[in-house]
Amino acid sequence: MTILLLGSGGREHALAWKMLQSPLCSTLFVAPGNAGTAAIATNIAINPNNFDEVKDFVLNQNISMVVVGPEDPLVLGIYDFFKNDSQLCSIPVIGPSQLGAQLEGSKEFAKEFLVKHNIPTAAYDSFTKETVENGCKFFETLSPPYVLKADGLAAGKGVLIIQDLAEAQTELRNMLVHEKFGNASSKVVIEEFLDGIELSCFVLTDGKNYKVLPTAKDYKRIGEGDTGLNTGGMGAVSPVPFADALLLEKIENRIVKPTIQGLQKDGIEYKGFVFIGLINVKGEPMVIEYNVRMGDPETEVVMPRIKSDLVALFQAVANQSLDTIELEIDTRSATTIMMVSGGYPEDYDKGFEITGISQVEDSIVFHAGTKMENDKVVTNGGRVLAITSYGNDFQEAIKKSYQNIDKLHFDKMYFRKDIGFDLF
Ligand code: AMP
Ligand code: GLY
Repeated sequence: MTILLLGSGGREHALAWKMLQSPLCSTLFVAPGNAGTAAIATNIAINPNNFDEVKDFVLNQNISMVVVGPEDPLVLGIYDFFKNDSQLCSIPVIGPSQLGAQLEGSKEFAKEFLVKHNIPTAAYDSFTKETVENGCKFFETLSPPYVLKADGLAAGKGVLIIQDLAEAQTELRNMLVHEKFGNASSKVVIEEFLDGIELSCFVLTDGKNYKVLPTAKDYKRIGEGDTGLNTGGMGAVSPVPFADALLLEKIENRIVKPTIQGLQKDGIEYKGFVFIGLINVKGEPMVIEYNVRMGDPETEVVMPRIKSDLVALFQAVANQSLDTIELEIDTRSATTIMMVSGGYPEDYDKGFEITGISQVEDSIVFHAGTKMENDKVVTNGGRVLAITSYGNDFQEAIKKSYQNIDKLHFDKMYFRKDIGFDLF
């Protein structure tokens, strides 16, 4: 079958790499893709948020499945666009409906869903411009640090964690009254701070049945020792070593099951990935966020550990027959180290030639912000390459990734040398 994958990051290269291992996938297009996807599939210059362009391409190329990588097209309603179009309605879209995508698109929607379905999460309240002073008073009922979350999508920057009460109140006013994050902060969720260690759980659902995919832990800060600005993610480890059988059982019973049942009870159509951000508070998993897509760079460690045919899994998602498929997981660890362009996550330059990729041995190089220019691979984003390796444990896998990074070069390249530091 001919498949169209939307997106252009390391996540999409990893999804493409995995889908192409399936005998069910005869042709794969990636829109818009990167230099990594260009080497294994066909890139097409289409904006995934322009649904009319996507439609023309899907009809012209006889596409039989659309897989959505990033959240934007989902939050904009690509699933419903296909469902409501007489020419497209028979073509499955792997991703949730627009309503389901609100689990990521609106923090308030997600919190209401969590509370309604009795899923453990931090206590919260939400505020608007009109109720900003109530919000300032609400802080006084909490103990520091204070957690403020812009309701809407804010490119991963919408969460503030502040120690000082007066500063938290000022920031709340900045968000609500001065539109610090534009429309995304016209509503703000204030929540109880949860003290613990983070991990992520990934689920593939057909809206009725589900498969729990491997867990992963991501390193979000730019600096070693988890310091400095937040990024999209600087590296990841799967499985999460401290996620033992007991914790996994709690996650499945208290969080995954009620989430899938909640979607059904609320009549929310959802045929795709659910990425559940968790904090392990003294052995008790609590939800800090939902995302309605896979994580990046988590995909670069989760996909390599899935042994089953991903396209067969997607077909089962489309037909709501996920209960009939076995999910086989590689018992080895996988780790990935993200190589970024100096300056990221603030300003950085693009267009630097990347060398050494062909010398990498026993690791997989997933491209993120790269493109082909005059037959050379050049940097084209802040996050550039994710170097994934397998090992009998995460230490062995990490070592291999770092050995291979020594062979790679581009100007101003930077990577964290301590991925997994908190797990040893
Ligand atoms: P989010 O976008 O909701 O995942 O939040 C971004 C980051 O803020 C998370 O990865 C956590 O590190 C942190 N965070 C979010 N909510 C809380 C909370 N209630 N308590 C502690 N840390 C949090
Ligand atoms: N790595 C975090 C995310 O994809 O949201």
